[in-house]
Amino acid sequence: MPLTCQPEWDVTNEIFGWACILASVVMGLWMGVRFQEENWLGGYGTLARRMVRLAHIALAALGIVNIEFGRSIGELGLSSGLVHIISFAFIVGAVSMPACCLLIATKSRRFEMFALPIGSLTVALVLTIWGLLG
Ligand code: HEM
Repeated sequence: MPLTCQPEWDVTNEIFGWACILASVVMGLWMGVRFQEENWLGGYGTLARRMVRLAHIALAALGIVNIEFGRSIGELGLSSGLVHIISFAFIVGAVSMPACCLLIATKSRRFEMFALPIGSLTVALVLTIWGLLG
């Protein structure tokens, strides 16, 4: 087996991360068409407009986090079971954070749904730091 061969989940987080950044750019293009309207979604400072912006930024930022995780996997002193859990938790966080932001933007006021991205990202980050220390 060639030395450059990586486990499947390593590449999964990297590819997923790049796809998130692409989704952020596509979303930015959609926003770019509309933001010239002064009162798009009620104006720049409204909750709906801020949540759409946050979804756009979260996609890009959590995409980068997924890529970085994929690149750190080789340095983690953890079992492959734990690494799979972290990998999955980072993906859940990157999907659910922008999804929650967009749901809030559509007038839902169930802020408790943010427990999903916050919880999964916290688990993923704590385990990653632990794995790098160990
Ligand atoms: C072709 C790609 C992109 C386009 C066309 C685009 C477009 C936009 C637009 C129109 C807004 C303003 C939204 C509003 O008025 O409410 C915005 C905000 C923002 N975008 Fe993008 N975006 C792109 C890519 C990105 C990427 C890759 C990132 C992060 C790495 C990013 C970070 C931000 C940030 C931080 C804001 C908030 C700025 C503020 O509130 O002052 N954008 N983007």
